[in-house]
Amino acid sequence: MSDVTRDPAPAPAKDAARPKVSVRGLTIRYGDAVALDDVSLDIHEHEIFGIIGPSNSGKTSFLRAINRMDAFTDGMVVEGRVLFDGHDVRTWRNLYSLRRRIGVVFPLPVGLPLTVYENVAFAPRLAGVRKKADLDVIVERCLRRAALWDEVKDRLDALGSLLSGGQQQRLTIARALSQEPDLLLLDEFSIAVDPVTTMRIEAVLAELKKEITIVLVTNLVQQARRLADRTAFFLMGECVEVGPTEQLFSDDVQDPRTRAYVEGRFG
Ligand SMILES: Nc1ncnc2c1ncn2[C@@H]1O[C@H](COP(=O)(O)OP(=O)(O)OP(=O)(O)O)[C@@H](O)[C@H]1O
Ligand SMILES: [Mg+2]
Repeated sequence: MSDVTRDPAPAPAKDAARPKVSVRGLTIRYGDAVALDDVSLDIHEHEIFGIIGPSNSGKTSFLRAINRMDAFTDGMVVEGRVLFDGHDVRTWRNLYSLRRRIGVVFPLPVGLPLTVYENVAFAPRLAGVRKKADLDVIVERCLRRAALWDEVKDRLDALGSLLSGGQQQRLTIARALSQEPDLLLLDEFSIAVDPVTTMRIEAVLAELKKEITIVLVTNLVQQARRLADRTAFFLMGECVEVGPTEQLFSDDVQDPRTRAYVEGRFG
């Protein structure tokens, strides 16, 4: 049998007490340089978990460890444990089956050189969906969930690269959703998106969290404040503080460095 059968089941029983992602003693190195140092935290099911922090804090590296990008990144060494639905991501034999369950959206839209339709139909086809009618349903549903359907429904056969930057980023989100992930990792998705589109995507994310769990890495502390249920503050590879988002913005903030950062006094 294929390796897939030995990987954890795609739809594990829900366990309210178990975190969606549990990170313990996570240390990430590139060669001799430490990018993340002994980070432990939990990400709960159906929350938006924000990660804020200045450049070079290890935010992107943290996301890479969750979906095992270290397997494809030269020199990247991961220590500690990342449990996804209770299973160590390093025990997945078939990384494709892990990554089907974890959608990723990068800072800049990364479109496939395909039509709008085919960008979204690509993953379902790979997963074995053959019938055009079934693909049509998936494509429409994903484009609607990414708040893009109305703008592209008459140009599904146009190249994705001909859409505006903000539309391409929503197409990237639609594509990430097309594999029916139960965890979505967003890395500064709004860096190349205008403020109006950013707000539209934020509304999409607030809706999506009813269905899936979202990790939102953002340079914009106010974006974390608007969206995230809980937030971690990373600084130069250290997880300085993690708690309910409002705590980081209140007098209950635990660490003076967090306060300084959210008040815009550095970074
Ligand atoms: N592929 C790589 N090879 C070598 N070093 C890397 C690699 N990727 C990241 N690093 C280093 O790891 C450290 C943390 O980088 P990371 O991209 O995780 O930070 P970040 O918080 O996402 O920063 P930014 O806000 O600028 O995106 C940096 O010093 C960076 O140079
Ligand atoms: Mg980054």
